[in-house]
Amino acid sequence: MFRRTFAEINLDHLAHNFFEIKKVGGEGRFICPMVKANAYGHGDVDLAKHLENVGATHLGVCLIEEGLLLRNHGMKSKILVFRGFDKQGAQKIFDAQMTPVVSTWDQLSALESVADETIKVHVKFNTGMNRLGFAPQEAEKLRTYFKNSKKLKLKAILSHFYCGEDAVSTSGLSAQQAKIMTEVFSYFKDDGVFAHLLNSGGIASLAEASVKNDPNHFLNKENWGFRPGLMLYGYSPDANLKAMNLKPVMTFKSVVNNIRQLQPGETVSYGATWKADKPATIAVVPVGYADGVHRLLSNRGVAMFAGQQVPIIGRICMDFLMLDVTNVVKDKNIQKFNEEEVILFGYDQNGNFLSADVTAKAAETITWEVLTAVGERVPRHYKGGQA
Ligand SMILES: Cc1ncc(COP(=O)(O)O)c(C=O)c1O
Repeated sequence: MFRRTFAEINLDHLAHNFFEIKKVGGEGRFICPMVKANAYGHGDVDLAKHLENVGATHLGVCLIEEGLLLRNHGMKSKILVFRGFDKQGAQKIFDAQMTPVVSTWDQLSALESVADETIKVHVKFNTGMNRLGFAPQEAEKLRTYFKNSKKLKLKAILSHFYCGEDAVSTSGLSAQQAKIMTEVFSYFKDDGVFAHLLNSGGIASLAEASVKNDPNHFLNKENWGFRPGLMLYGYSPDANLKAMNLKPVMTFKSVVNNIRQLQPGETVSYGATWKADKPATIAVVPVGYADGVHRLLSNRGVAMFAGQQVPIIGRICMDFLMLDVTNVVKDKNIQKFNEEEVILFGYDQNGNFLSADVTAKAAETITWEVLTAVGERVPRHYKGGQA
């Protein structure tokens, strides 16, 4: 490695979060860790392997290609493929023994046409997100369909919360979705079918004391299966939901490229959007928007330098960004900082922490995007995870 910019992935934190999620679910809860989008930027093959090592039996991907990658690397779990597919895709899903999540009649036909033995399928219902899934009104017709199908066996039904963070409330949007899902479920329950519904928002809500202790809360009415994404990687979907003890898995870091001293009036980076109003010390860091540092963080974001949060100044470049480290360096010998570690988010060597939530807020986006945006050219280094 010629550039010391990388993402450090803590597999022990991943396992910790997985067990935290299991604890909320209790015995016998269906859990499908979502490892789509390169495991939210953390590296899907390595994470999926570790999740299997610590007991995961299912893995959720979006693309057929993502599922094939995991199969080709020896993953034995049931791999749920959430995105739709055509006949060619159905063939691949069947050949690689993956589990299709079906949202249309065409997809059912495609599966019928490629299967020469039973395929277990999960069927998605649209309960308000209006993205994928059958209309709830089709539940009865689908039940009849599966009763008559020789090849397709319905294993589970599912839906997706679009405001999962409000699931604590019994009068929110998630409550409405769960009500619809409960009605849909009533058609299938006696057929040995289960239902999965809860993303991080739903799971974090279920963990809150007010919900946990209320047997009549809709989240407790069914043994809704879990599909955790964000929280598996250590972040809560909402700052108000903090009952779970989650540990961020990724630290995105770099090392100072060079330190420069500027005179008042000198500017930094393209467009000269930052000007020193007094003598300033800046650190040039070899990481930029091509690595996934959002350009909106220019003159707005922070990074951690020598244990302290410092501002990103000037426009973020493709390969570099600059930090104002004047207050940290002060009258110290600047040579001392020539090799200083810089944390874009995550932990420094002394355990100081900068949250990806802070980065997301400054970039006017969400933590999901900050994590998944970490670029392909940023090597992932794995630590921990001794089975
Ligand atoms: C169908 C489905 N289930 C679960 C998840 C996980 O969501 P989260 O990362 O909010 O836990 C996603 C992510 O977008 C999803 O698309």
